[in-house]
Amino acid sequence: MDLENKIQKLKRELNAVVLAHYYQESEIQDCADFVGDSLALAQQAAQTTADTIVFCGVHFMAETAKILNPGKLVLLPDLNAGCSLADRCPPEAFAAFKAQHEGCFVVTYVNSSAAVKAQSDVICTSSNAVKIVSRIPQNRPILFAPDRHLGRYVMQQTGRDMLLWPGSCIVHEMFSEKKLVQLKHENPQALVVAHPECEEAVLMHADFIGSTAQLLERVTRGVESLFIVVTEPGILHQMKKAAPHKQFISPPADNGCPCNTCPHMKLNTMEKLFACMKNRSPQLELPEAFRQKALAPLKLMLEWS
Ligand code: 13P
Ligand code: SF4
Repeated sequence: MDLENKIQKLKRELNAVVLAHYYQESEIQDCADFVGDSLALAQQAAQTTADTIVFCGVHFMAETAKILNPGKLVLLPDLNAGCSLADRCPPEAFAAFKAQHEGCFVVTYVNSSAAVKAQSDVICTSSNAVKIVSRIPQNRPILFAPDRHLGRYVMQQTGRDMLLWPGSCIVHEMFSEKKLVQLKHENPQALVVAHPECEEAVLMHADFIGSTAQLLERVTRGVESLFIVVTEPGILHQMKKAAPHKQFISPPADNGCPCNTCPHMKLNTMEKLFACMKNRSPQLELPEAFRQKALAPLKLMLEWS
């Protein structure tokens, strides 16, 4: 039996649902029951009736599934699949930052640890950040963490001033404005779609900005036939599947590297996916008191979405 069939068999034995993010390798996406952006994956995790959630994504995504499902077994193929945004916002430093700015409404991007979520008023993802911030009373100052690029984009879209934690994504910061301008020049008919985690100088050249799911939706429904896609290239798999007759260009990074792949997302492999299901390990664990603190802002996000 090949690996994919073995995984399908284990799915039935465990009564498991396999959730995958768009940045996972193509084989994993094809093996999953659902592929989506951070918000859709959290929504799937919130409503699943499966006993086991196998999360093919990074740690904060699987942790979010566990916060929502304390009674379920939540498996992650590689427990070391972190995220530079979550890693660069340690809970103790965040608590000190928050203490210096008392009275702020704390909006935390889902790319954060449960310990930081537990100190927040509401969580957001890249697809609902503008909507979430727009719901906060005008008289409340806002602290936004940990992605300063998404934060700045939300400020521009909502007109709200926000105090920003100085975090960023190592992958999206790699895109070069110079190379993007050059690509646009070489492909004047191409539409540029970009993720809001990119730097402002890059986003300035985008025709459309959105979460991974929103970028996929935009290229699928668009009449254009050529797209420059400024985000992790894992998303191209679904774009090509949804619109096989269209063309997609992934811009190179500043240092000439053609990839811009997320090293954390790519830690998961088909072999590790199979092994985690077979061994029921590694699994996500969270102390209950702590989980409940992180659940409240997460629930508020799902309600406001
Ligand atoms: P999305 O919510 O748009 O899928 O983004 C997740 C992410 O980690 C982007 O780098
Ligand atoms: Fe985190 Fe960036 Fe990877 Fe997304 S692409 S998981 S923000 S490191």
